[in-house]
Amino acid sequence: MNKKIAVIGAGNVGASCAMYLAEANIADVIMVDIVEGVPQGKALDLTQAGPVRGYNCTVKGSNKMSDIKGADIVIMTAGLPRKPGMSREDLLNMNADIVGQVGRDIKKYAPKSYIIMVSNPLDLMTFHMQNVTKFPKNRVFGQAGVLDSTRFRTFVAMELGVAPTDVQAMVLGGHGDTMVPLPRYTTVNGIPIKELIPNDRIKAISQRTAGGGGEIVKLLKSGSAFYAPAAASVEMCRSVFSDEKKVMPCSAFLTGQYGIKDIYIGVPVVLGAKGVEKIVELKLNKSEKSALQKSAKTYKSHLKILGY
Ligand code: NAI
Ligand code: 2OP
Repeated sequence: MNKKIAVIGAGNVGASCAMYLAEANIADVIMVDIVEGVPQGKALDLTQAGPVRGYNCTVKGSNKMSDIKGADIVIMTAGLPRKPGMSREDLLNMNADIVGQVGRDIKKYAPKSYIIMVSNPLDLMTFHMQNVTKFPKNRVFGQAGVLDSTRFRTFVAMELGVAPTDVQAMVLGGHGDTMVPLPRYTTVNGIPIKELIPNDRIKAISQRTAGGGGEIVKLLKSGSAFYAPAAASVEMCRSVFSDEKKVMPCSAFLTGQYGIKDIYIGVPVVLGAKGVEKIVELKLNKSEKSALQKSAKTYKSHLKILGY
C-alpha cells in the first residue's frame, strides 16, 4: 500500500482514528505526537491487532512531523481537550498555537494533502489552519457536523426504538452551543420525524444534541468524547480518499451561501477526491436560517480574538 494517511496527535481521538483507519485497510497510517513513545507504542499495538482483525496496512508512530512526508490526507487532532466546566472556546488560544506549528509543518512536508480538522474550537481552528497553510479552501475542512448529526440520529433512534442506521439527520452551524439541528431534514427511512415524535420531545432531543459533547465531558470527568468523533473523522476521510462524494455536514468556507461569508461553519457539502467539491444550499425556513446566521456571527466575533 503506498497511499498514506497522517494523524496528528496520538491521544484519544487520534489513536481512535488510527484504529478505524487500520480497520478500513485502505492506506498506510502514520501517527505523530510530541510525547515520546506514545505514538510508537500505540502504533505497534495497532499493528499487532492486524493479524486478528484482518488488516495488513502499516501503522507507524513518530515524534517527527517530517515523517508525514507525502501524506495524501492529514487528520489533525492535536490539541487540548475540554475539562468539565470548559467551553470549546476556552481552548482557543492554547490550540491556535499548536495548529500554527503543525500547519507550517504540513505545508512543508505534505503540501498536496487534504486536511481534516478536529482540534477545537473546531470552526475557528479550521479557519486558522487554512490561513497558516494557505492551502486552497476546498482542501481544508473540519469535522463536527458528522459527529453532531450522529448524536442526533442516535437520540432519535433511542426515542423511537428503531435502528440508528435507519435515521438520517442534519446538524448545521458551528460546533458549539449555537449549532443548528434540523428536525425538518431528519427522517427515519424517509419518514419525517415530525410525524413520529411530538414537538416537545423533538425540542428536547435537539437540545441534548447541542449539549452532546458536554454530556460526555461531564461523565468522563477528564477529557472529551473520542470514539464517535474519530468515527466521524474517518467517515469524512474515506469519502475523500475513495472519491465517494458523500453529502455530509462539514465545516466549510462560505462565500455568501446562506447569506454568510468569509468564515468556516458547518453546512452540507459534497466530499470527494477534490475535498469540498460543492456546498449544498438547503431551503432553510426563516428561523433555521437566522439560527445559522447567529451561529456564524458568534464565530466571526471569536475570530477577532485570534487577530483575524
Ligand atoms: P488528547 O489530550 O487525548 O490528545 C491530544 C494529543 O495531542 C496529545 O497526545 C498531545 O500530546 C498531542 N499534541 C499536543 N501538541 C501537539 C503537537 N504540536 N504535535 C503533535 N501532537 C500534539 O485529546 P483528544 O481527546 O484526542 O482531543 C484532541 C482535540 O480534538 C481537542 O482539541 C478536542 O477538543 C478536539 N475534539 C474535537 C471534536 C470535534 O468534533 N471536532 C470531538 C472531540 C475532540
Ligand atoms: C465533542 O463534541 C468535545 O467537541 C467535542 O465531543
